[in-house]
Parts: sequence; structure tokens; C-alpha cells
Amino acid sequence: MVKVLFVCLGNICRSPSAEGVMYHLLRKEGLDKQVCCDSAGTSGFHVGQQADERMRDHAERRGFKLLSLSRQVEQDDFEEYDYILAMDESNYIDLNNLCKNSAYKSKISQFIELTNFKVPGVPDPYYDGDDGFEVVLDIIEEGCQNLLDKIKSGTSK
Ligand code: 4NP
Repeated sequence: MVKVLFVCLGNICRSPSAEGVMYHLLRKEGLDKQVCCDSAGTSGFHVGQQADERMRDHAERRGFKLLSLSRQVEQDDFEEYDYILAMDESNYIDLNNLCKNSAYKSKISQFIELTNFKVPGVPDPYYDGDDGFEVVLDIIEEGCQNLLDKIKSGTSK
């Protein structure tokens, strides 16, 4: 079983979207027993909450259901997961600071590197309008497909 963890700040917009899109692709390709994913936030601001309603609406219009409840990253996640994908650079820095076992730091990378988008990270849509949520989904759809192709071809992280 390959395990993927998507991480953003609040775990109510970007990372639950990546989780929902990834599960959609895994089910479509019949790989949801071989690959599993989850999402978490570097902060605990929204623990227990559903994904942001605006994010859920935009995702649903593209056929993705966002069902997760927000949780905060835990130390055990660094051992448990094979790929730990930070949605932006500040999440990446926070994850590296949180990770107490340096052997696991190589699992942490930036989601945007899976894509051809020329932006520094997946932009935080929380204070944006509709366009922000659409951009997030554009980036996430491309990145998740590329991640799945990478896992299927067994290439290194
Ligand atoms: P996310 O978006 O990190 O993609 O879940 C945010 C959600 C909430 C806040 C910031 C970003 N907030 O400041 O409450």
C-alpha cells in the first residue's frame, strides 16, 4: 500500500480537495486498494470541520466529492506516509520544522512540483473569490494525475 498525505494550512480548502480528487482518480483506475490518501493541516484552526462550503461547491461541479473532516498533522504521519505533499512553500517549511525525525524529511515535497504551473505553490483561496477556487482545482487535477502516473510507474519520489 502506497500512502499519500496532502497538507495545507487549515485542511479545509486545498488539501481536502487534493484528497478528493486523488480518490476520484484512484477509484476510476481501480487502484484505491493499492494507494490510499489522507489530508491534514499544519494548523489546528478548523479541526473537526468539513471542507469549506465554497471549496466543496466548486469541487462538486467538477464531479469531486469532498468528504473529509479537518485534522492537524501529527508526528506519526511522518512515519506512516510515503509521500507528504505540501500545498505551498510555507506549509513545506512548517512540515520540515515539525518533523522531528530527519530520516523522514525526504518524504516531504511541494505539490506544485508535480505540475507545470509557473506559480510558487497552490495559492490559498480562503480570502479569494470564485476564480481562486477554480485555480486550486486546475492545479490539483493536473498534479494528482501526475502523482498517480508517477506512483504507477514506480519512480522514486
Ligand atoms: P487551506 O485554506 O489551508 O487551503 O485549508 C485556508 C483555510 C483557512 C484559513 C487559511 C487558509 N484560515 O486562516 O482560517
